[in-house]
Amino acid sequence: MLELQKVYFTVQDTEGSDGGPRNIIDGIDYVFEDGKFYVITGPNGSGKTTLAKLIMGVNPLSGGKILFNGQNISALTITQRAKEGIAYSFQQPARFKGITFRDLLTIATGIEEEPRLLEILGRVGICPLSFLDKEVDARLSGGEIKKIELATTIAANPKLAIYDEPDTGIDLWTIGPMVSLLKKELAENRTTTIVVSHNKAFLEAADVVMIINSGRIVYDGDLEGAMPLLDDLSVCTYRNSCEGERDAGCYR
Ligand SMILES: Nc1ncnc2c1ncn2[C@@H]1O[C@H](COP(=O)(O)OP(=O)(O)OP(=O)(O)O)[C@@H](O)[C@H]1O
Ligand SMILES: [Mg+2]
Repeated sequence: MLELQKVYFTVQDTEGSDGGPRNIIDGIDYVFEDGKFYVITGPNGSGKTTLAKLIMGVNPLSGGKILFNGQNISALTITQRAKEGIAYSFQQPARFKGITFRDLLTIATGIEEEPRLLEILGRVGICPLSFLDKEVDARLSGGEIKKIELATTIAANPKLAIYDEPDTGIDLWTIGPMVSLLKKELAENRTTTIVVSHNKAFLEAADVVMIINSGRIVYDGDLEGAMPLLDDLSVCTYRNSCEGERDAGCYR
């Protein structure tokens, strides 16, 4: 069980109207139950990635507490949280010149046996033999780097897996199998799964849909109940936040 207690992430917003502090995550209280498939959605810039990074320890908390299976993990490093069974797939994974898929998977999972590494690559739709010794560098396509990021998270066999927009840049034919793969991981290993996504295929697969807006959870429940709010947000989310720029961000 992952419990967020009055969680804040606050920055000094020098670009804001008053230059004062801005709560990017604004006092979130929430309990993520074990073995459920959560899909978090919400407008660009609403705080989804920031929340995911707070849970993984990539960003420090400005206030509040995070408990994982009853243990206060707020002060733990990323590595310590990984040891406790939390894994995170970045929205924008890093590329490493000189590091191969084989190296990356081994570093992330400790697995060295080639058949197992090939099996992990195959599961995420990457041709295992052609990719195992390829470098994870700037030559990879956007979808290829996202697939390897997904593979390293799954292969770590976490208790809690957080995937930040795993479908970005993924082709039409892979999204369905990707949803099924994450659901299968959950069913077989009881991996509590949190996916940040705007994709209908993920939203439809969710046990719980969560909508974040302006750093707060504005909805959690089934997709049907989320629909009126999703429609409402689609009118023009940014209108109220762009002072003096009434139509900025509205695409009209
Ligand atoms: N360290 C930081 N300092 C200042 N501002 C930040 C920091 N981290 C995030 N932000 C701002 O907080 C807001 C939320 O960012 P975040 O990346 O969490 O959004 P998001 O909901 O994941 O959006 P997207 O759907 O575009 O990925 C953005 O306006 C971003 O610029
Ligand atoms: Mg994001």
